[in-house]
Amino acid sequence: MKKRLHMWRLASLFAVLALILAGCGEANISALQPAGEVAQTQYDLMILSTLIMVLVIVVVVAIFLIVIFRFRRKKGDNSIPKQIEGSHKLELIWTIIPILLLIILTIPTIITTFDLADTKAMEKKNRDGKKKDELVVNVRANLYWWEFEYPDLGIVTSQDLVVPTDEKVYFNLTASDVKHSFWIPAVGGKMDTNTDGENQFWLEFDSKKADDVKNTFLGKCAELCGPSHALMDFKVKTKSREEFNQWAEDMKAAKKPVAEGDVAKQGEEVFNKSCIGCHAVSPSDARPAASRTAPNLATFGEREKIAGVLEHNEENLANWIKDPQEYKPGNTMPSFKDMDQEQIDALVEYLMGLKVEEK
Ligand code: CUA
Repeated sequence: MKKRLHMWRLASLFAVLALILAGCGEANISALQPAGEVAQTQYDLMILSTLIMVLVIVVVVAIFLIVIFRFRRKKGDNSIPKQIEGSHKLELIWTIIPILLLIILTIPTIITTFDLADTKAMEKKNRDGKKKDELVVNVRANLYWWEFEYPDLGIVTSQDLVVPTDEKVYFNLTASDVKHSFWIPAVGGKMDTNTDGENQFWLEFDSKKADDVKNTFLGKCAELCGPSHALMDFKVKTKSREEFNQWAEDMKAAKKPVAEGDVAKQGEEVFNKSCIGCHAVSPSDARPAASRTAPNLATFGEREKIAGVLEHNEENLANWIKDPQEYKPGNTMPSFKDMDQEQIDALVEYLMGLKVEEK
């Protein structure tokens, strides 16, 4: 009876585990469904090491079981078996096999590590001394939002990283306050963003896999950085090279937005009084990084989420402005609880109209 209860417990534990693990399968955020060269290489390495580990476990357990059952003391037999302490043959076998396994694991690991860290192309110049075409993105992590600066294009975006597919994209990683970590599980990574010094790596976004997820991957902060660490998400929008060039042109051409309608105009006034000190509304706003203390809102009206966590609608935006701490504890935006509803509504109208692409 007791034994059956034990089995039942074990079975339900496995059922729950299976249920939880089944949740790990979203293609836009799963490291187990690689969507680019880096993710694929890391995945292959993971499979290789897992296979080696499983092989070791299976062989050791098999030998263990054979020994337990075949060589157990039998009734009435008190003889001592042959002692094999100091057997050269055995010691050689169990020393050489692990060494071989480690070599099989070490060689691809080292090669991969250097390949994935190879960012020399970032520094390369053309013959005329100009920078090459390699796309470089400066990622700056903040409590709890992400900034993506395209230094060669003069564009700054927040929360949405836009990249071309099927080519290497190079990243400079930094943080402005505490240590965070930049991670796009389906595409590769992760790498720390530090307050001192830059980390660099590259990623490649596969166009076919991007199609499967409607050209949007999800990114996360992978370093415990405060109470809203789990809410520190960003989106990765993939485009073909031509679409990307078009996007870059649109972004570069985007001037300071013009509010349309009386309510939006009133909202713009509120914004210019209360918000513009931290939030820019133009993708080519030239203020230096240290003064960019809040997300750039140039494309706010086109986003899918508010603050990366709330559904994108007027009501949520008003609630967010009134009390940001309620939705993302520990973030650095002040609350506007005392602002009157009319002003908030105007501000919401203005912000929802901030668009670059959908014009
Ligand atoms: Cu930023 Cu965790």
